[in-house]
Amino acid sequence: MSPDHASGAPQRLLVTMALPYANGDIHLGHLLEAVQTDIFVRYQKLCGNEAVYVAADDTHGTPVELTALRRGISPEELVSRVREDHIRDYAGFNIGFDIFYSTNSEENRLYAETIYANLKANGLIVEREIDQFYCEHDKRFLPDRFIVGTCPKCKTPGQYGDVCESCGTIYQPTDLGDPHCMICNRTPVMKQSKHLYVRLERCEPFLREFIARPGLLQDDMRNFVKAWIDDGLREWCISRDGPYFGFRIPGTVDKYFYVWLDAPIGYLSSTDRWCCDHGRKVEEFWSRDADARVVHFIGKDIVYFHTLFWPVLLENSGFKLPSTIFVHGFLNIGGVKMSKSRGTFILAKDFIDKIRHPQAAEFLRFFFGAKLGHTAADIDFNAPEFISRVNTTLANNFGNLHHRTFVFCDRYFDHRIPDAAWDASIAAEVESAAAAIAQWYENAEYKSVVERVHELGNRGNKFFQDAKPWELVKTDPVAAAGIMVTCINLIKSMAVFLKPMVPSLVADLEGQLGLDHPLSWGDHAFSLANRPLGTIGKLVTPLTGEDVAPLFPPAETPALPVTSGPSQEPIDIDAFRKVELRVAGIVAAEKVEKSKKLIRLQVDIGSGTRQILAGIGESYTPEELIGKQVIAIVNLQPASLMGHVSEGMLLAAGSADGKPILLAPEKPVLPGAKVS
Ligand code: MSP
Ligand code: ZN
Repeated sequence: MSPDHASGAPQRLLVTMALPYANGDIHLGHLLEAVQTDIFVRYQKLCGNEAVYVAADDTHGTPVELTALRRGISPEELVSRVREDHIRDYAGFNIGFDIFYSTNSEENRLYAETIYANLKANGLIVEREIDQFYCEHDKRFLPDRFIVGTCPKCKTPGQYGDVCESCGTIYQPTDLGDPHCMICNRTPVMKQSKHLYVRLERCEPFLREFIARPGLLQDDMRNFVKAWIDDGLREWCISRDGPYFGFRIPGTVDKYFYVWLDAPIGYLSSTDRWCCDHGRKVEEFWSRDADARVVHFIGKDIVYFHTLFWPVLLENSGFKLPSTIFVHGFLNIGGVKMSKSRGTFILAKDFIDKIRHPQAAEFLRFFFGAKLGHTAADIDFNAPEFISRVNTTLANNFGNLHHRTFVFCDRYFDHRIPDAAWDASIAAEVESAAAAIAQWYENAEYKSVVERVHELGNRGNKFFQDAKPWELVKTDPVAAAGIMVTCINLIKSMAVFLKPMVPSLVADLEGQLGLDHPLSWGDHAFSLANRPLGTIGKLVTPLTGEDVAPLFPPAETPALPVTSGPSQEPIDIDAFRKVELRVAGIVAAEKVEKSKKLIRLQVDIGSGTRQILAGIGESYTPEELIGKQVIAIVNLQPASLMGHVSEGMLLAAGSADGKPILLAPEKPVLPGAKVS
C-alpha cells in the first residue's frame, strides 16, 4: 500500500493496542506494545492521515476480582485507581492515545448486549449444562483464574482454568489436573451449571476466508491460526456464574458475560465515546462500508481471541472487520522471561524513577523501534544493548552530525543556515530512502527504518569529514556553505524519518532549526537555506552504564583472557573477515574502581567515540594510554563488566611475564582506519 501523501487523499484509520488488564501496573512488555502502536499512529498522523489511537483498561473478569479481593477493596475502586496509574505511566513514555477509556462503561454494556442479541438472532448461541468446579467453602463456582492446576497438555503446574501460560493451550477448567481454589486453596467439588456457548464451528467458512485476506496477518501467524481451524473449532463459552465482575447477560438470572466477550468490544465502545466527544459518528470507522482501516496491535498470547472470536462478533453485527492485526513477540529482560521472583520484572514507573537520564523514556521508544520488525519474534532488553543502540545511532551518528553542523553554522555563518545549493546526490539519496521508509512504517518494520536512517547519518558524517569545512571556510566559503546547507537538510530529513519514534527529541530539533511549524512527512525533502537558526544546543546526551545500572541486578564480571595457545581449528577467510578491526585513538582513560586490571577507555573510532574496558591495568597507567593509537574489534556484542558497558575489545599480545602489551599501527593513521 502506498502512503496517502503520494495520492494526496488522506486516509482514515482506527488503531488499537490490546487493552491492559486493570489488575496491575504497566510493565515494559505492555510498553513495547504501546510504543509499537504509537509509532504507527504517529507515522500516519505525520503523513496527514486521520489515525485515531483508541485504548482502554480491560476491567472485567477474575484477575481484577481476585486482585481487589486481595487488597480488600471493591473491583470498581481498584479499576478507578489503576486507570489513573495506567494513564500516568503511558504518558511518561509519550504514548499519544486519542482516548484511554474503560470496558466498565455504559457504552460497552450496550454494545455487548447488542452483539450478543445478534449472535442469538443468527442462531449462533446454544445453552449447555456442564460440570464445573465449585468451592463449597467460598460458595462459588471457580471459573478461569479462580482455579489453578496442572495443564492437561504440557503438564506445567500452577496454571489457571482458561489458558496455559507455558504452552498457550486454551482449555476448560475441568481439564486441569490437581485443581485447587485460588481463594482458600481447598480442593473443589463438581457441580452442574448451565452456560451459553457461541457455535464457532458454524463460522468456519467465514473464518477461513477472513484469515486468508491479504495484509491481515503476518505469514507465520496466518499458518498458526489456520492450524487451529484445521484442528477443529470448538464451541466457545461466553457466560460465567455470578458473583462475577462484568455485565449481566440479558434474559438470564445470574449469568455474566465472560471478560473476553466484552474486552474486544471495548475497542468499539471506546471509539464510540471518542466520536461522541468529538462530534463524530462511530459508523465513520466501524460500519461495514466505512472508508477506514481498523488496525490492531496485539501480543502473540492473544491471537486466538483476535483472529477467531472477535471477527465472529463483528461479522454477525454488521461491523467492519480489522484490515490488519500486527502480532508482536514477548519482551524478555536480559535473555529471560520477565518474572517477579527473578527480579526481572521492570515496571514503567521504575524505569522512569530509577534511570537518571532525562531522555531515558525517549531512548526506550527508540530502542523498541530499533528492535521491532515485521515478525512476532521475542525481543530482549538488556543494559549493554540498550546503551549501545542509543549511543551508536542517536548520540554518535545523528547527534554528532547535528552538533558539528549547528556549531559550525553558528560560528562561521552568523548563526544562520547559509544561502547555497545543496549536494544533489545526497538530496536524491534521501528521496529514495523516503519511499522505502514509508513502506517499512506501513508494515511496522521499524528496525529497517533505524538502519536506513543510520546509513544516511554515516553518509552525512563522512561527507562533512571529507569536505573539511574548517579548512574550506577560509579558502572557499561558498563551497563550505554548500556543505552546511546539505548537512542541515540531511539532519532535517533524518528527523522526519525518526519523528514517530522520538517525537520529543525531534520537537527540540524543530526549535533549533527555527521552524514555525512542526515537521511533517513532506518536510523530508531538501528545502532549507538562507534563514536563521533557533537557539541551538546538544540534542542527545549519551547514555552511560551508571545511568541504567539501578534498573538491573549487578552482573558477574567475566575473567578477561590475556593469552591463548594457537588455534587447533583452521578457519576460512570469511570467518576472519567477520571480525571488524579498526584503528582507535584513546581519548580518555581511567582505572575502574575496585579492579586491579580493568581500565575504562573512551576511544575514537572515526564514526564517533565509544567505551571499551580493557584488562591492561598491570601494564599501563591511564595517563600513558591517552593519545595512543591501538587496534580495536568494533563489532563485538557489547558486554557488561563490573557495571560498565564495554563496546569492543583491544588487541593485545601476551608478554613473557603474562602482562598484555597493546598492538598499535606502525605509523599514525586516521582513527577508524580499517585493519585487514
Ligand atoms: N486484557 C487482555 C487483552 C484484551 S484485548 C481486547 C490482556 N491484557 S494483558 O495486560 O495481559 O496484556 C496486554 C497486552 O500486553 C497483550 O497484547 C500482551 O501480549 C502484551 N504483553 C504482556 N506481557 C508482555 C511481554 N512481556 N512482552 C510483550 N508483550 C506482552 O491480555
Ligand atoms: Zn475456596
